[in-house]
Amino acid sequence: MEAPATYVADASRNEKTVGLVILFGPPGAGKGTQAKRLAEIYAIPQISTGDILRENVARGTELGKKAKSIMEHGDLVPDQLVCDMVSERLKSADCNRGCILDGFPRTVTQAERLDIWIDGKFFDNERARTLPPIVIQVKVEYNSLLQRLTGRRTCPTCGRIYNVHFQPPTIAGICDGDRSKLEMRPDDAEDVIAERLKAYDNQTLPLADYYRKSGRLLEIDGDQPVDQVTAAMLKAIENGHSL
Ligand code: AP5
Repeated sequence: MEAPATYVADASRNEKTVGLVILFGPPGAGKGTQAKRLAEIYAIPQISTGDILRENVARGTELGKKAKSIMEHGDLVPDQLVCDMVSERLKSADCNRGCILDGFPRTVTQAERLDIWIDGKFFDNERARTLPPIVIQVKVEYNSLLQRLTGRRTCPTCGRIYNVHFQPPTIAGICDGDRSKLEMRPDDAEDVIAERLKAYDNQTLPLADYYRKSGRLLEIDGDQPVDQVTAAMLKAIENGHSL
């Protein structure tokens, strides 16, 4: 996805060592939308646990078979499965300047595991190793979340995210980038959304306290236009290292 010209204009960002940027927030908060932009701006990977799990479901892997019905019901996939998947991905060389973690950690157990990896010098790059993670909580009102999720459409080819209410494609139902037919996610059905929001409140929201205690939590108002949220995140990332 193309990031706005104003952000990419600062070319120094795509050589910067960023470390780990953790985005967490309720379903529909805009984590995926922002993670794609930040990944492009800093030229580092977006690691979306939801996307990796959906790919596994689509390919029918062992992991996908285990995750499929859990995801269809809006529950969280067991910590061990997700942690194994993320730890493998974080070992890749493309993460050496950092990465955007979109949807991980999502429980306190996952956050504790991540802290152990960080202390265990996970990254090869010395600078990335010593940078504290930037943790951004994206806050959005309940009614906006419902509208965002029911209106979301995704390109199955390039992953670009649209919304029939807020960010429609130029031609209804067709990706602007590669002309693929846009799809609705099966877990964006209203009954599943309710379960996902419950899982967020019960299992993910405690992360706010976990990271607040260590002084790492940065809160962002996600109920603003996409560009403004991106600008707030860039500021948080660039000031966050001095926390
Ligand atoms: P995942 O894919 O991570 O889903 P999620 O957390 O529910 O988040 P979403 O992808 O629904 O929303 P988003 O915040 O990314 O919003 P988006 O940018 O798309 O996880 C799916 C499932 O996988 C989970 O339910 C679980 O089962 C499993 N899973 C994943 N990670 C796991 C983990 N760590 N542990 C255990 N299980 C795990 O935006 C939404 C819509 O809003 C779009 O249409 C977009 O265009 C629009 N929009 C975005 N920003 C704005 C804005 N500022 N203004 C207006 N509209 C906007």
